Amino acid sequence: MCGIIGIIGREDVADRLLAGLRRLEYRGYDSAGVAVVENGVLARRRAEGKLDNLARKLAAEPLDGTVGIAHTRWATHGAPTEDNAHPHVVGEVTLVHNGIIENFKPLRDALIAEGRTFASQTDTEVVAHLVDRELQRGLSPVDAVKKVLPQLHGAFALAFLFRSHPDLLIGARLGAPLVVGYGEGETYLGSDALALAPLTQKIAYLDEGDWAVLTRDGVTIHDRDNQVVDRPTTISGLTGAMIDKGNHRHFMQKEIFEQPVVVAQTLGSYLRPLAGEVSLPIPEFDFTQIRRVTIVACGTSFYAGMVAKYWFEQFARVPVDLDVASEFRYREPVLEDGGLALFISQSGETADTLAALRHARAAGQKIAVVVNVPTSSMAREADLLLPTHAGPEIGVASTKAFTCQLAVLAALAANFARAKGRLSREEEQEIVRHLAEAPAAMNAAIAHDDEIEALAPLIAKARDVLYLGRGPDYPMALEGALKLKEISYIHAEGYAAGEMKHGPIALIDEHVPVIVIAPSGPLFDKTVSNMQEVQARGGKVVLISDAEGIAAAGEGTIATIEMPRVHPLIAPLVYAVPVQLLAYHVAVAKGTDVDQPRNLAKSVTVE
Ligand code: F6R
Repeated sequence: MCGIIGIIGREDVADRLLAGLRRLEYRGYDSAGVAVVENGVLARRRAEGKLDNLARKLAAEPLDGTVGIAHTRWATHGAPTEDNAHPHVVGEVTLVHNGIIENFKPLRDALIAEGRTFASQTDTEVVAHLVDRELQRGLSPVDAVKKVLPQLHGAFALAFLFRSHPDLLIGARLGAPLVVGYGEGETYLGSDALALAPLTQKIAYLDEGDWAVLTRDGVTIHDRDNQVVDRPTTISGLTGAMIDKGNHRHFMQKEIFEQPVVVAQTLGSYLRPLAGEVSLPIPEFDFTQIRRVTIVACGTSFYAGMVAKYWFEQFARVPVDLDVASEFRYREPVLEDGGLALFISQSGETADTLAALRHARAAGQKIAVVVNVPTSSMAREADLLLPTHAGPEIGVASTKAFTCQLAVLAALAANFARAKGRLSREEEQEIVRHLAEAPAAMNAAIAHDDEIEALAPLIAKARDVLYLGRGPDYPMALEGALKLKEISYIHAEGYAAGEMKHGPIALIDEHVPVIVIAPSGPLFDKTVSNMQEVQARGGKVVLISDAEGIAAAGEGTIATIEMPRVHPLIAPLVYAVPVQLLAYHVAVAKGTDVDQPRNLAKSVTVE
């Protein structure tokens, strides 16, 4: 899972390729590289690690050329070294790749048996050799690529550049996204519309199996049967300005602070507060026939799905199955007629979730997608598209996309319940009123930023941290632990509070902070009992609750974080904020790379 960009233009491209990589760095940052062709000469710069290393190399040794490709890598095959960095060059062919060539081993063995030698450990280099072999056999670049593509199994987005053909770029996609951009006398390839935003807003999304031939004057797109096809062009609406940190130190901090606004925007498309009604963007979808819901997602989006399971079952009384996407297909789920499969994803490109979506469709399920990128693969394959309006999320750790997912899922649960005749008019009005209060309550939660920052050095010293919650706040415990692990590298686990006594309580000592998420409400007393079991064993508790909860149970804790008093329905949206802020400040205290934590990438387009 990597970012790729290509430009065939009329002016030098290296700086613009580098700028494009900056917008794609969220897809991986293990290494990066650029290659351009000028006067029949191919020149390439590659560097290990973050993009700044490549930028320094390019500043020291600039590249001239009006056609080029570039890549930012999240390592799959081969360590993140310069040798394994893309672009890969074999003879006439230069190539960048996002995805995994699953049959690379037999292909590589056969190429080695023919006497070819490899300069990297990547699966990608195999493709460059295969195309080079066809060129050596006398095929044109276009025919060589056409011949090689069917030999590749797995998932890929590819961009090819040819040393002796400065008038040509070729792109191909199967299972990983690729867009084509149209400029004035220039054309572009990119992993997404965001990469191309400063270059052009006029883009076309390649379909599965498509491959495209780009010249300065236009683009010819072929489908997997090599027929020339038209793919609709759209105006992306993204601009360069949208990915700016503003006055914030990190994108993650900016995105946490944006939440009240983007959650309000999102709710604005799902609620009619004055009428006290839920109103989905696709009103014609018939929920009355849905007998079972299967929710599938990964990571933070999965935790949004966990919350939704509570809501769907509580409000609509519809049974819900819930799976992480990487497990879903392999447990051979029973998917009966009348089922709705619901996929939740910020990016809409996560390979595990996309594969699960296609599995569910093949099994006859209706497909609903809650997604933040409305042009993504998942969005385009949905029967029921439920967009979140979080705006571009750049920090690798998901924050605002998560709370916007919760907002959409709450509205969806209420809509479901209404369609099933399980919600009276008054109940619907009450739900809408509570949801409409969420943005203000999230604002009040953010107002406690300073206190949370003051607590961070204490948590930053810990080797292990536990998070506890119950009911819909249990996924908040899991989410808090995930946020802390991924950006501060502190080992953290979330537990259902009642589960502690069945094993994990053995971990408790004075060195393990325990963060307890306990809003006032029907589960408060039970959570507090579990918290007291921890305290009785010397555990150091941080209690996140409202004033009433803190007054009732704050004694003996090492710290309390006060949230506004909210209805249990919106507690997950509000309590997401302090766990995000705590992880953020702990990571800052530890000096880690908050927006680009090690080993991770934002969009995971490999299985
Ligand atoms: C954690 C995080 C990941 C993503 C996961 C799914 O902060 O961001 O766990 O939630 O990779 O990604 P999407 O939502 O794009 O499918």
